[in-house]
Amino acid sequence: MIVLLVGGGGREHALGWKIAQSPQISKLYLAHGGPGLNPLGESLDINGDDPDAIVKAAREKSVNLVIVGPETPLAAGLADRLRDADIPCFGPSKAAAQLETSKGFMKDLCKQIGVPAADYGRFMDPVAAKAFLRQRTAPYVVKADGLAAGKGVIIAQTLPEADEAVDLMFAGEFGAAGAEVVIEDFMVGEEASFFVLTDGETIVPMIAAQDHKRVGEGDTGPNTGGMGAYSPTPIFSKSVYEQTMARIIEPTLKAMRDRGMPYCGVLYAGLMITDDGPKLIEYNVRFGDPECQVIMRRLKSDLLPVLYATATGTLAGRSLEWSDDAAALVVLAANGYPGAYDKGEPLKGIDTANALPGVVVFHAGTDIRNDVLVSAGGRVLNITATGATIGEAIERAYHGVDAIDWPGGFCRSDIGWRVLDRAP
Ligand code: AMP
Ligand code: GLY
Repeated sequence: MIVLLVGGGGREHALGWKIAQSPQISKLYLAHGGPGLNPLGESLDINGDDPDAIVKAAREKSVNLVIVGPETPLAAGLADRLRDADIPCFGPSKAAAQLETSKGFMKDLCKQIGVPAADYGRFMDPVAAKAFLRQRTAPYVVKADGLAAGKGVIIAQTLPEADEAVDLMFAGEFGAAGAEVVIEDFMVGEEASFFVLTDGETIVPMIAAQDHKRVGEGDTGPNTGGMGAYSPTPIFSKSVYEQTMARIIEPTLKAMRDRGMPYCGVLYAGLMITDDGPKLIEYNVRFGDPECQVIMRRLKSDLLPVLYATATGTLAGRSLEWSDDAAALVVLAANGYPGAYDKGEPLKGIDTANALPGVVVFHAGTDIRNDVLVSAGGRVLNITATGATIGEAIERAYHGVDAIDWPGGFCRSDIGWRVLDRAP
């Protein structure tokens, strides 16, 4: 099978690493590539955010399957364009991608079908938004409606802060994403990320992971794209899984079908596990980053035929096999992230880390300059490890971190603390 992979972050390195192991792959093309992915395939000189360029390349290279990692090309209609050209695509249509691209769309749909989630209001102007805030109680959750790279959510402890958040969004702080604002009730609990594959009809459940969104120790400080992850997680018990499938995932996918926008691809449910069971925080129409990386480390089955079946409506009868081993991931980020940071600093020790038991390093933001591997982003390296227990996986991941020589980088030292605190 000839495959084209779109996206060039840590998530796509993990997907490429996994599918490159498939006996069914004959050629892997990369729409972004990078130092991590390039040894696995052939990098094409195209703009991965340009649907025309991708459709053209997929035709020219006789690609059998396009796998789309990030949400932006899906929001731009890449999957629709590929399907129009009869090229199988792993990823939802632009209409189905609204589950992520419009929080208002997602909230209205979930309310209509009774999915457990926070109560909310949708607003097009600050006066109505502020009046609504005065009928609610703190803390207030204020969200820009559209895609804002994970940054469009402000949790305000007081009314003045919430008013300020509303003003910021309508003033264009998050660009067009903030033309509409959603205000939600605050949910208390622990967060987990759960993933399913679906071709629109059949659902193949994957597994859950937890990530650490905040930059600081103890989950404090500003939000980031994610500073670490691990799987499995004890809070995602069998009962939580069953409730998630029956009350959240299945009704949502049925509703999307009924509304003429069947969902095809991976659906990522961001959940709050509350005392009343799992509640939906958000949907994403892609794998989580860095959750995908730990999930790929635990997947025993060949991923490629299952992604192909997802893209071609032939998922019925398929399932996935998972390792009992745990997997953990520590992000090495550039000093200053998620604020301003330097790029172009040499990175050493990756081969040494990869030689350690259970360790695989994925590249999230690297580049080659003058034959030297250098940092080229905020989140730069993902050090993953597997182990017999979550504790062992985390310990091994930190051994991997110790092997990396990069004075300009930092990581959190407490990845997995919630699980380790629970360990007997
Ligand atoms: P979102 O982009 O909608 O996933 O929100 C980003 C983060 O904000 C989530 O991962 C949660 O930590 C937090 N968050 C969002 N909505 C709520 C809510 N209704 N209650 C509590 N926390 C929330
Ligand atoms: N790790 C959170 C996300 O991918 O949105």
